[in-house]
Amino acid sequence: MADPIAGKVVVITGGSSGLGEAAAHCLAARGAKVVVAARRKDKLEGVVGSIKSAGGEARPFVVDVTSKDEVGALIAEAISAYGRLDTMINNAGLMAIAPMEEGLTGEWDRMIDINIKGVLYGIAAALPQFLKQGSGHFINMSSVAGIKVFSPGGAVYSGTKFAVRAISEGLRQELASRNIRVTTIEPGAIDTELKYGTSDKAARAAVEEVYKTSIGSDSIARAIAFAMEQPPDVDVNEIVVRPTAQVF
Ligand SMILES: NC(=O)c1ccc[n+]([C@@H]2O[C@H](COP(=O)([O-])OP(=O)(O)OC[C@H]3O[C@@H](n4cnc5c(N)ncnc54)[C@H](OP(=O)(O)O)[C@@H]3O)[C@@H](O)[C@H]2O)c1
Repeated sequence: MADPIAGKVVVITGGSSGLGEAAAHCLAARGAKVVVAARRKDKLEGVVGSIKSAGGEARPFVVDVTSKDEVGALIAEAISAYGRLDTMINNAGLMAIAPMEEGLTGEWDRMIDINIKGVLYGIAAALPQFLKQGSGHFINMSSVAGIKVFSPGGAVYSGTKFAVRAISEGLRQELASRNIRVTTIEPGAIDTELKYGTSDKAARAAVEEVYKTSIGSDSIARAIAFAMEQPPDVDVNEIVVRPTAQVF
């Protein structure tokens, strides 16, 4: 039987490292055509080069998801290269943990811009094509921090991830009758660069302690693949994946 993921055209933001990079490898290995997008060109070229040497199909696209125009250009490039768009994975993110009394408003701004507005721009750019095709799949990366607020230090990051869940669920309800699927993924501690996102030294040490029991990015790549491989009338709405050893 043919792999249901084979031939799908997939855009992944935050594809230069961590969960996005692992998803790009996993999906390309199953025959998807993957546009890997983020800001670091050298990293993107590395990911694409390694997919291609394994026989997969991928292309890099440099994007800052805080720019609506750049995200629009990313989707236009995917459609121009591959003729359609099947899955938009809104994955780029920043976790800058710090107590609110530190007043790191620049990091609050960046988390809101990347984690919330970046996802919204991804939806705005991909949705017209999905509606035109009469099919499509949004996979939005929230977090267990989007289910439960972690304190001290997690207020703003959790706020952004609660927003991603709310936006995804609203989007799902609006698109249910249009043959467009929406999946929200809520990972626990996964071993990536995410844990280095804060400039607050004490918070970073606390985060690194939590991440001692973290698991690999392949765990989330498999969750993404599971949502994608379902038949079109099955929408996996939410997937929570924690390390077995993670309590909260
Ligand atoms: N790892 C975890 O424990 C965990 C748990 C729950 C949820 N998540 C979520 O999973 C997603 C991926 O994170 P990760 O763990 O894979 O961390 P990561 O390794 O730090 O990856 C973050 C990705 O986002 C990209 N990015 C950041 N700012 C960007 C911007 N302005 N424009 C475009 N791309 C941008 C980064 O690439 P460039 O720097 O090259 O732009 C990178 O590829 C995030 O949304 C995160 O909140 C992760």
